[in-house]
Amino acid sequence: MYDNWEELEKSIEGCKKCKLCNNRNNIVFGQGNKEADLMFIGEGPGADEDKEGIPFVGKAGKLMNEAFKGLGINREEVYIANIVKCRPPQNRVPEEDEATACLNYLRNQVILVKPKIIVLLGSTALKNILGKEYGITATRGKWIEKKGIKYMPTWHPAALLRDENKKIEFWKDLKEAKKELKNEL
Ligand code: URA
Ligand code: SF4
Repeated sequence: MYDNWEELEKSIEGCKKCKLCNNRNNIVFGQGNKEADLMFIGEGPGADEDKEGIPFVGKAGKLMNEAFKGLGINREEVYIANIVKCRPPQNRVPEEDEATACLNYLRNQVILVKPKIIVLLGSTALKNILGKEYGITATRGKWIEKKGIKYMPTWHPAALLRDENKKIEFWKDLKEAKKELKNEL
């Protein structure tokens, strides 16, 4: 673990710790306020993210931006990262060895950001951060506190594209996270 961003960012340059390094154009490390109280964790980069090197800039990102705008959350104030930093082929779910190889970077990011609240976007984020025993359908919308951080699991924004109900629940969960953040500050 590194106690500063410079060394952590340097340590990921050219990373070949898993097979996702073979097809990537860019490592998508993370974006936002490095001292954020609110952090978001997604699954992994898609094609747009891989091209730009920035998380959530494609279709799913547009939905996140809409929700942020509607709820008065400033994207620059939060920190956004993913379970894996390189794009899985055909946007498949990251495999266990890939997530395991990459998770130390994310753990280090969380330690440096020190967020009060982390929103887990979808099943991959939930299972890799809180444990395989959790299912997104049963867990979403419920606070889980672990080591001084409050986690709010919710749908992955890509799931909203297919289901209007999930969109309503996603907004509700983000609203709850924002409310809790206000209480914390
Ligand atoms: N989906 C994710 O999980 N992360 C991104 O950065 C983009 C899409
Ligand atoms: Fe390294 Fe993570 Fe990319 Fe795998 S996904 S090559 S562990 S940065």
